[in-house]
Amino acid sequence: MNGAPRSGGSGEPASGEGAGPRGLLVHGAAAIATLEGGLRRGPAQADVRLLRGDEMAVACWEGEVVAAGTAAEVDRRIAASGRPIEAFDRVDARGGLVTPGLIDSHTHLVFAGTREAEWQMRARGAGYLEVLAAGGGILSTVAATRAASDGELQAAARRRLAEMLACGTTTAEVKSGYGLDTATELRLLEIAGRLATEGPVELVPTYLGAHAVPAEYRSRPDGTDAYVAHVVGEDLPEVARQGIARFCDVFCEAGVFDAAQSRRILEAAAGLGLRLRIHADELAPSGGAELAAAIGCLSADHLAAPSEAGVAALAASAAAGRPVVATLLPATSWFLGKHHFAPARRFVESGVPVALATDLNPGTSPTVSLPLVMSIACLEMGLTPAEALAGTTINAAHSLGLGDRLGSIEPGKQADLVVWDVATVEQLPYWLGSRTARTVVKRGRVVLTRD
Ligand code: NIG
Ligand code: FE
Repeated sequence: MNGAPRSGGSGEPASGEGAGPRGLLVHGAAAIATLEGGLRRGPAQADVRLLRGDEMAVACWEGEVVAAGTAAEVDRRIAASGRPIEAFDRVDARGGLVTPGLIDSHTHLVFAGTREAEWQMRARGAGYLEVLAAGGGILSTVAATRAASDGELQAAARRRLAEMLACGTTTAEVKSGYGLDTATELRLLEIAGRLATEGPVELVPTYLGAHAVPAEYRSRPDGTDAYVAHVVGEDLPEVARQGIARFCDVFCEAGVFDAAQSRRILEAAAGLGLRLRIHADELAPSGGAELAAAIGCLSADHLAAPSEAGVAALAASAAAGRPVVATLLPATSWFLGKHHFAPARRFVESGVPVALATDLNPGTSPTVSLPLVMSIACLEMGLTPAEALAGTTINAAHSLGLGDRLGSIEPGKQADLVVWDVATVEQLPYWLGSRTARTVVKRGRVVLTRD
């Protein structure tokens, strides 16, 4: 990694209050993809609201965007506001593209250990759920995570966050789910909370106790139902009491938690004030998409194998003004060696809003890079670069319930920006696997630069 965190890292206030000038002026951009205009679905999925010109600029004040447009327009807005120009730090975009900070709306950031042996077993034909049923897969990461200290888990997650930031990610959702007992699940959420306080990447915590049935319950004939009862009766009330998760998630999949068990957990979570997301129909149609639409999940994730009824249910929800964001994870299908990807074009064509995320985890998607995910989405799912960018910005923000504050560059929104080394939206996914983020701004402060 060339980029060095410049400020906002460990030990500094993530909000940027009291440090340096109160304003930031990014100038000299070739284009700004503002993503203004709310959640994208249908034909609007491709509308990135591109402002293009010789000298494009974005002005930020005290952590918020105040203006974006031509240099002349932005200068006029600054003058009209009465703010002294010397109170603005300047960043020269040098003909690059400016976008909102990327939002990774599905990660399993906090874990210990690696799973390259299992990856090679899969390459020789073993199935993902077969490995899990034999006590490997997620359960091997659970064993490594339980055995790791808080310090080890936090340091490893912090390193991954630094890499995510270097790829342009300014906000990430973070799931628990490698503890599968109350103490460790809470520990993982506490670690996410500490990393959120450190900044600069903003984190949204999700409780995913129902990620797999832990070894302790597997020998029992009623093991899955007994573990569901534990999640509902013990974990969820404590997670809610401590206020350490904003969302609840479930791995709803035939052979893991079925739709009825998933519904039981998610309804209990909603009753405790948590918002809902779901791992749905990753490997086989399991009723996950239908459930997401029926109970109002903000996001249904994976969807590589939804049923016809599931796609129809998501389309009907969106048409009725209760959209469930389809968060697609193409790096996962790719790394699992599937030659079958979520039907992204069908979702766009049926008016279902699409987001893209890394699914960062040691089993199925060991990547930190949203630009790489966008590349795979374009190559394997047929999304256009513009549709993919909406999926990693404004739609990802909405899938986290943060669309009013994050995901676009418009006056009043939080000033999270990336200046890229490329001049067009198309070049973001085109430079396959390259690190093209040059300057990253979080809450109006430069937090990383590769100059
Ligand atoms: O989203 N599918 C379930 N959970 C993760 C994988 C977790 C793992 O294999 O460790 C996913 O792909
Ligand atoms: Fe996942």
